[in-house]
Amino acid sequence: KDIYQIAVVPGDGIGPEVAAAAVRCLDALFGPAGPLVLREHPAGAELYRRSGESFPAATYAACRDADAILHGAAGLPGIVHPDGTEAGLDFTLRLRFELDLFANIRPIRLYPGVRSPLAEVAPGGIDYVIVRENSEGLYAARGAGAQLRGELAVDTLVQTRKGVERIVRQAFELARSSRGAPADGVRRVTCVDKANVLRSYAFFRAVFDEVAAEYPEIEAEHGLIDAMAMYLVTRPGHYNVIVTENMFGDILSDLAAATIGGLGLAPSAEIGVTQGLFQASHGSAPDIAGKGIANPYGTLLSAAAMLDWLATRHADARLGAGARRLRQAVEAAIAEGVLGRDLGGRYGSAEITEAVCARLG
Ligand code: NAD
Ligand code: IPM
Ligand code: MN
Repeated sequence: KDIYQIAVVPGDGIGPEVAAAAVRCLDALFGPAGPLVLREHPAGAELYRRSGESFPAATYAACRDADAILHGAAGLPGIVHPDGTEAGLDFTLRLRFELDLFANIRPIRLYPGVRSPLAEVAPGGIDYVIVRENSEGLYAARGAGAQLRGELAVDTLVQTRKGVERIVRQAFELARSSRGAPADGVRRVTCVDKANVLRSYAFFRAVFDEVAAEYPEIEAEHGLIDAMAMYLVTRPGHYNVIVTENMFGDILSDLAAATIGGLGLAPSAEIGVTQGLFQASHGSAPDIAGKGIANPYGTLLSAAAMLDWLATRHADARLGAGARRLRQAVEAAIAEGVLGRDLGGRYGSAEITEAVCARLG
């Protein structure tokens, strides 16, 4: 392939700010004759407020047909469907289900130059990946639950063998192929569940154990979600790859992000068999939107993940090299103290973005 079509969906709040940062860096990375064609498409809560539509069919088609999707963030509190759930989230959630983006890969890494709020954690002391199941679990109930006369509401947590097997396998493959390992040097995959209480999680764990047996060289362990919320704070250096159900992965990944300097630094890659959606883990941050202070690093690292994914998928070394350059530029800027207010620094989004561009080499 010579040219890759990238559907860019800026969204709401700080979404357009961090998406613009990614577009700027990708343009700078490859120059005018580069391999990416970036096209913007509308979706989100603001669009819903204006038009009654949160995710136009044309945007969906563009995303489906693109080589990859790059997103800022969407959703605004209070802009809701009749059932009370947020309209702006249709974009992300419909893509996950309709394009079967079953693996949500969320690397949690403490970069040199960032101080963890946890005492006594050195740079390099936190380096693991949360593999979040992204296509079923509790989220599969969205729009399909029941509400009875305003007296009762029900959502159902669904786990299928196929769904659990593929996400667990993804986690073990990641543990096998990645060079990173926790402080004790042991490659391990931790299954996070609530198998002691609910059968859906007991099933998740049973399937995990079956798949784990195929990877004898990798340590397999279990953690209950409540204790895990503690362990990610008290011993983050123990973890290597964590695999978990959709909702638990959502919650744990924000907690984990806090330990490495906050949501502004946390990237994510949502990957299926044929398509990938790349956006930071954070939301539209309405509290800081329009102020020019949103941290773009999470989105830039997500853009680097997009290049890596495209590079592997299409065996295209140009993109692999681009991913490395972008990631190194981000790491260099962070190490040199180019940080925003969220990290105790004084740089705005645009200054951070230009600092990264200047370090692309
Ligand atoms: P949030 O992630 O938007 O913000 C949580 C906190 O982190 C806020 O204080 C915010 O200022 C800060 N923060 C987040 N990203 C930041 C960044 N890049 N730089 C600096 N600070 C950052 O979560 P929320 O406030 O609970 O949700 C706000 C809206 O976003 C809601 O409508 C929610 O549904 C939506 N949301 C969307 C996505 C998405 O589109 N991917 C993800 C999560 C939440
Ligand atoms: C995330 C977000 C999403 C989620 C929203 C946008 C639906 O919080 O990607 O973590 O809840 O999964
Ligand atoms: Mn989330």
